[in-house]
Amino acid sequence: MHARIRTARWESNGVMSYALEPLAGEHFPSCTAGAHIDVHLPNGINRSYSLLNDGSVPDHYEIAVQCDPDSRGGSSFIHENWRAGHVISIAPPRNNFPLNEEAARTLLISGGIGVTPMFAMIERLEALGRPWALHHAFRRREQAAFLDRLARYDPSRIVLHDDAAGTSLDMRALIADTEAGTHIYCCGPERMLAAFTELTADRPAGFAHLEYFSGGDIVPAAGGYTLALNRSGRTIEVEAGETMLDALLDAGVNVGFACSEGICGSCRVEVLEGVPDHRDRFLSAEEKRANKSVMVCCSGARTATLTLDL
Ligand code: FES
Repeated sequence: MHARIRTARWESNGVMSYALEPLAGEHFPSCTAGAHIDVHLPNGINRSYSLLNDGSVPDHYEIAVQCDPDSRGGSSFIHENWRAGHVISIAPPRNNFPLNEEAARTLLISGGIGVTPMFAMIERLEALGRPWALHHAFRRREQAAFLDRLARYDPSRIVLHDDAAGTSLDMRALIADTEAGTHIYCCGPERMLAAFTELTADRPAGFAHLEYFSGGDIVPAAGGYTLALNRSGRTIEVEAGETMLDALLDAGVNVGFACSEGICGSCRVEVLEGVPDHRDRFLSAEEKRANKSVMVCCSGARTATLTLDL
């Protein structure tokens, strides 16, 4: 899909937001709160960004991009090149972080730029008349993005945690004080997500939700295994230093992908035989144990051959 950048807005040091609109005569598909879009950059890099706006009536999509100091050409490219009026390439929204709209209580926890999907969730919960609360953490107020936007909502629902002001988020206490049966959502930096995972481990399945913005373990690069493609009957060797995705694309096999970091879910392929070495953050622990599918952008193989439904 193509989209025109309607506005590019400075939000804080290192954070820009972009409102995207369909080209004349075209329409954006609708989506649900928590959805993200993949943007396809001309340098061949794809990146996923959460939508800030509720996409149920999508006259536009809004995303925010934080320029990563260690950018490999994604966020830095966007900050340097995207201007209002430019036409860019995106994929339709997908939702790996869906909101449970029936929840009696919803607690949202965000850190830094991880607040972006929370706006769409808040809008939806407000529209449904459901109770919610947000705890948003940042390093220092002067550098935090979107505080002006958070100020539009009932302040009794929002707690800001400013590290520099000594009001850091105590995730352990917050989770411990949260009633059983509350749906809890977390999006933020690595450390926050790791703490959230640990502290919600004893909650019933399906009540703790999180979304990663970066990949997990180091991609297995040893290679030395074979992909057997069930439908085409082909076999493809994965050499040292290659990912499964590299090997498949080099062999001309058309596999969808976006983030290349094991977080977006777009490169999922069914496994018919063999055991993958899962390195992604998309499949649940249960799905990984079942070994019925593999994210080919970042995972490897624990068996000499992996038979894929391709
Ligand atoms: S391309 Fe995103 S999970 Fe593989």
